[in-house]
Amino acid sequence: MVPPLFTTTVLSLYKPLLSCYSQLALEFAPHILADPFVTSRPPLLASQVLAELGPVLTGERDLATTAAAALEVVMAAVQASSGALFRFQEKPAMLSSIAAAGFAVFPQTAVFPLMPKHVHALLGAPGPQRISRDRSDIFLSSTGNISSVWFRCVVPLRVRGRLIGALLLGEREGGSEYSAENLKQVGDLAPFIGLAIYNHQLLMSLEERTAENLKLIASVHSFWDDALAGFAATIDSKSKEMHGHSLRVGRYSAGMAEALGLNPTEVGEMRASGYLHDIGKVTVDKHIFTKPSALDSGEFQEMADHTVVGHRIVSTVQFPWPHVPEVVRSHHERADGSGYPDRLRNDEMSMPVKIVAVADTFDAMLSERPYRKKMTLGEAAAQLSWLAPAKLDADVVQSLLIQLRRDAVSLMSPPRPWASSLERTRKPFLDPSIPCNISPTDIDHLVSELNHRTTRGRVFLT
Ligand SMILES: [Fe+2]
Repeated sequence: MVPPLFTTTVLSLYKPLLSCYSQLALEFAPHILADPFVTSRPPLLASQVLAELGPVLTGERDLATTAAAALEVVMAAVQASSGALFRFQEKPAMLSSIAAAGFAVFPQTAVFPLMPKHVHALLGAPGPQRISRDRSDIFLSSTGNISSVWFRCVVPLRVRGRLIGALLLGEREGGSEYSAENLKQVGDLAPFIGLAIYNHQLLMSLEERTAENLKLIASVHSFWDDALAGFAATIDSKSKEMHGHSLRVGRYSAGMAEALGLNPTEVGEMRASGYLHDIGKVTVDKHIFTKPSALDSGEFQEMADHTVVGHRIVSTVQFPWPHVPEVVRSHHERADGSGYPDRLRNDEMSMPVKIVAVADTFDAMLSERPYRKKMTLGEAAAQLSWLAPAKLDADVVQSLLIQLRRDAVSLMSPPRPWASSLERTRKPFLDPSIPCNISPTDIDHLVSELNHRTTRGRVFLT
């Protein structure tokens, strides 16, 4: 019989893991998921836990919040009056705190420098260990900025034989010793806490590596365009459905910028912004892209967070274009304030953001998704036009329709010999993979309807 509090504890710890890291868990710690305790409760995993994914833990993507929540449930499970969660850093070897509770005074970051014998002991301990004044130096040094005598129990956190951190528990409420049952409970939870820390570190290093690569490209300005196109292809390699998406969004954004009369530098900025708009998706769990049904709230949040993560990545890079970071953050904002992450309204969004929002929506409509079929060009143009001005900027949508019309016209009558050089050298707006099977007349209808809607039928004389 599993005590109810213990079950609750395990469920709470599963939440962040399942919602954010299930794929990584399978990859890096299959032994944990193969634990009989876990596999004996599939109905809980599938229905209760996933259904219970509340905004608090599912949204807890930053380590400090997840660590604090994990610490709280572990302390409650074994009636610890104080405790702290530490992560392990290899060079130099040390434990540094990421959450603490129940102490009257605690440093902002508590640190235990570790000697090889401490690392060895933490790696080799068969599970949670009681520590006393005379035993604490087996696992912890006395040279940190807190004293090891505050703790009564040390729980090494390991993933696949690697030391990830340690959970240190202080006195129990009432002053009694940690029982064998207490140690077992904490020992069963430890792999999940270790995995949460480990996965967070993986995600952070992915973010950091992506930013480093971008900085490298930024240092060689002459190769911007090709290099960013290569980068866009890397972002899109996340799933079959995304293949070519960022490249096409860059292409359409630049095309619309031209139609809006922006200068060549601004057109270049729009191309780069389109290439990079989804860069935050490098950290999104791969299975979410291929899920054949609608995303649940946790998965949706993880997907939506690509805007914030992407913004964090590009904000560390010195681009020759000032609008890239805000495009990355705000390309899912909508004119009526229904978008994310900041619920901006149309007048709070810059023109580059509005352009990439339209290009992104247009390409998504023309792309197959696991849960829906792609639209035809005519359907996408009509849908896009109907979304303005409530969701998308009307001028920007019109610039897309102008470029589509140019494609449609030049398909019907290729440029004559006496056409201007600009006309003769014009590249099609549409990606070559999309057949331009819409007539100029159909586009004229859409433009006329759009104008009618945005001016409420009034005609202005100029
Ligand atoms: Fe996006």
